[in-house]
Amino acid sequence: MKPIYIKITDSQIIYANSENAIDEKSFDLDSNIELKQNLQEFKDSLSNLPNVIVITNPSKFHLKKNAILFHEEVIDLGAELENTFHIPVINIEEIIDSNLLLAAEKETDYASWHLDYYGLAHEKRQYGQESMQTIGNGYFGLRGTYLETKANDDNYPATYIAGVFDQLSTPINGRDIINEDLVNLPNAQYITFSINNGQRFTINESDIKESNRSLDLKSGLLTIKLLVQLDDGKELRIVEKKVADMQNYHDYYLQYAIEPVNFNGKITIYTQIDGTVVNSNVERYRNLSNKHLVIDQINNIDETAILSAHTVQSDIKLAIKTDLNHPTIVNPKYSIHNKAEIAEQQLEFTASAGETYYFEKDVSTYTSLETKEDIVAVAKKHQFLPSFADAAKQAQEDWQKVWTQEDVIVTGDITAQKLLRLNSYSMTTAAQNNANKDLDASVGSRGLTGEGYRGHIFWDELFDMNFYVLHNPELVKSLLMYRYNRLHAAMDYAGADGYNGAMYPWQSGLYGDEQSQEVHLNPITNKWDPDNSRKQRHVSLAIAYNVLNYFHLSHDEKFMQQFGLEMLLDIAKFWIDMSKLDKDTGKYTIGNVMGPDEFHEGYPGVKESGLKNNAYTNIMVSWLFKKIGNFINTESSDVLDNNFRKTNFSDIDIQKLDDIRHNLKLDFQGNILGQFEGYFDLKRLDFDKYRQQYGNISRMDRILKAHEDSPDNYQVAKQADTLMALFNLTDQDFFDILADLGYPITNPEMFIDDNVKYYIERTTHGSTLSRIVYSMLLLKADDTKTAWKLFYEALTSDYYDIQGGTTAEGIHLGVMGATLNLVTSFFAGIDYRGEVLDINPNMPKQWDEIEFKMNFKGTKFNFRINSDGISIKANRDTEVIFIGKKLPLVANQEIQLTY
Ligand code: BGC
Repeated sequence: MKPIYIKITDSQIIYANSENAIDEKSFDLDSNIELKQNLQEFKDSLSNLPNVIVITNPSKFHLKKNAILFHEEVIDLGAELENTFHIPVINIEEIIDSNLLLAAEKETDYASWHLDYYGLAHEKRQYGQESMQTIGNGYFGLRGTYLETKANDDNYPATYIAGVFDQLSTPINGRDIINEDLVNLPNAQYITFSINNGQRFTINESDIKESNRSLDLKSGLLTIKLLVQLDDGKELRIVEKKVADMQNYHDYYLQYAIEPVNFNGKITIYTQIDGTVVNSNVERYRNLSNKHLVIDQINNIDETAILSAHTVQSDIKLAIKTDLNHPTIVNPKYSIHNKAEIAEQQLEFTASAGETYYFEKDVSTYTSLETKEDIVAVAKKHQFLPSFADAAKQAQEDWQKVWTQEDVIVTGDITAQKLLRLNSYSMTTAAQNNANKDLDASVGSRGLTGEGYRGHIFWDELFDMNFYVLHNPELVKSLLMYRYNRLHAAMDYAGADGYNGAMYPWQSGLYGDEQSQEVHLNPITNKWDPDNSRKQRHVSLAIAYNVLNYFHLSHDEKFMQQFGLEMLLDIAKFWIDMSKLDKDTGKYTIGNVMGPDEFHEGYPGVKESGLKNNAYTNIMVSWLFKKIGNFINTESSDVLDNNFRKTNFSDIDIQKLDDIRHNLKLDFQGNILGQFEGYFDLKRLDFDKYRQQYGNISRMDRILKAHEDSPDNYQVAKQADTLMALFNLTDQDFFDILADLGYPITNPEMFIDDNVKYYIERTTHGSTLSRIVYSMLLLKADDTKTAWKLFYEALTSDYYDIQGGTTAEGIHLGVMGATLNLVTSFFAGIDYRGEVLDINPNMPKQWDEIEFKMNFKGTKFNFRINSDGISIKANRDTEVIFIGKKLPLVANQEIQLTY
């Protein structure tokens, strides 16, 4: 072990390499910068990096061992140091029998499985932490709030169920604007208490001595501990626990343990299903209509309450049932206090100092979306597991199965390990097969954790599917069926715009019609600007890509024959119609679109027109047409005829596929591929000028609009656009497509280097997706240092809420899925896009090892990769390509290679 012993004062870090501080040194803290930056500078100043940190300040707090007072403020020094050094941080008091190694191992295990927050945060920061600590199971998401809170500026308890959307209309600037929201459902997690008939307890800084919230990723259990000291000196210890049922996905379980520390008295527990909730998570939407629920009925049977309701416009019915359980509370007085929209029950009992009283609440929700019978009757019949302990045990076992499949194990970096696990956890709570097999739903850009983008489903699916498809192909099928079930809506949308085929909406909700906003609030000017993001027709290409990706890995012929091919053909028909031939040149143009870079809505001064020949769109169209062409050459005529009939796909269409895929137009300036036609005519932007004024310039669109200017006028991008095709496709496929289109690239490596350099200089990373795409591109361009930096920013983007408050509105699922994909496909280097796995490790020097499993075309693989070797095991005889050479594998025999 290479320990460092640290003691921190308000002005210095005093450190030594051994416990008996003969060689003690000090590092002065700069009071003008934040502690985080000071710690980074301290780290940079060390010539020899340690592999464990021992804090020698004694722990003063009960709920966090390494919390200390720093300038009179409580900080979690342990977490701060761990996040800077990415190694275990322990307290000297934890070293038992001088066994430092054991203490370090214990901390490594704890920290890499827990997402903890010590103390109370406020406003968006607290909202963001609640998003991160959401529990769920693909059916519902329950935000990680304190049970005692209602929605206020610091807390936002909310429950979402996949697919429960509702539309409301709001008059804005003389027009009725309709918005479809993922509905915030009645708050059934509410539990609080009062003492001797006093006021109900709320989360109030002055009453809370300590608070620690800990999400155990391994078991899906959220534990919140509070040490309370009220004005009159009464002290209480409270432990609240929440767990979602991964099997019976309707259910979650709560446990509320309350201990009066220094008094005897009457405690009243209040529990509610609060139907007064509205959608108010997102500040800028708060003036819009937001009450989506009509409460129908409240029923009580013994200590069970059932609240039924329906959504205003979509008329989705729901029933929420709660059961109470309190075996350790003797002779409580139970009473019902329902109000118009609130089911409330109270439990009164006499409590003695030093005793802990356990109160449990089981919650089940049914909706008319997945339950065809009378939901109130079904809810009434529903049986819960006997106790919270049973639910927690079952969840632990279920999560164990999840982790056996999808854990990406990274050694040598505690922070990365924790956050990669958080990403897998969030991907699983957003969708899991047990629930999704019964649902008509896909994953929204924020999962089920907040109301950002109203819970809508975007092209972000593409960034998530890469992860799902490797671990759970069945799940991907359910998610794709959400799109198949909305194929007709996509055809109506295309028809309304004058096109054949299917044009999927940029933002999709319940029906699959276009749910993008028409206006967008610019927080700098507080003005509503027109929102043209719906012109991102490339969403249909992402859907086609997901269908093909799923088929590539699963070989699910039945899906392809019944649903997949039909979707591909209808999507292709739309693009055939969009491609306009210039008879003089023989080239096709696709116009009136936007690429993934949302800054450019049109040409300078003519916004409405969209853009012509967006390179990403055209390349992906050509790729799709080629893939469909391959199908047509290989599928049986029965299947083809059937699908051609369903989609009216004619021989002329087949010919057009071939013609268009060879003749779509791209724009080049030397070696640089233009983002769209006319891109090179735009002005360069003086980034520094705006950086000086605004600091963070990631949302350059808003800044320029605030200056009565427009990003349309400049070479500036929010995120990867042109080069996004290199993220989706293998290099070989990408360059083949360019050659097919008549733009052969003689030096692919130089092309990648030049284009990555060119575009990254013009990109502000205004979307979390951008960093991950560029990180992968930079790996290709051999700039591993910047690739690592962007990867780490992407990995920690929700943890640090780097977009200044957007995590409050929900986590960013796309970047979470994409980060996992980057680790397995590009760092570990297991590329699954070809017929056999193509392995080219790019192991980051910051990590010791990466280990994970994946399914590839029915074969299960285990991989372990470090800086000079790899071990591979497959469960059947197969072969892979390892750094350009074919490598046969024998079933269940691990093979170890160096590189
Ligand atoms: C990004 C889009 C993304 C959307 C939803 C936007 O900020 O630019 O690419 O689809 O967020 O996550």
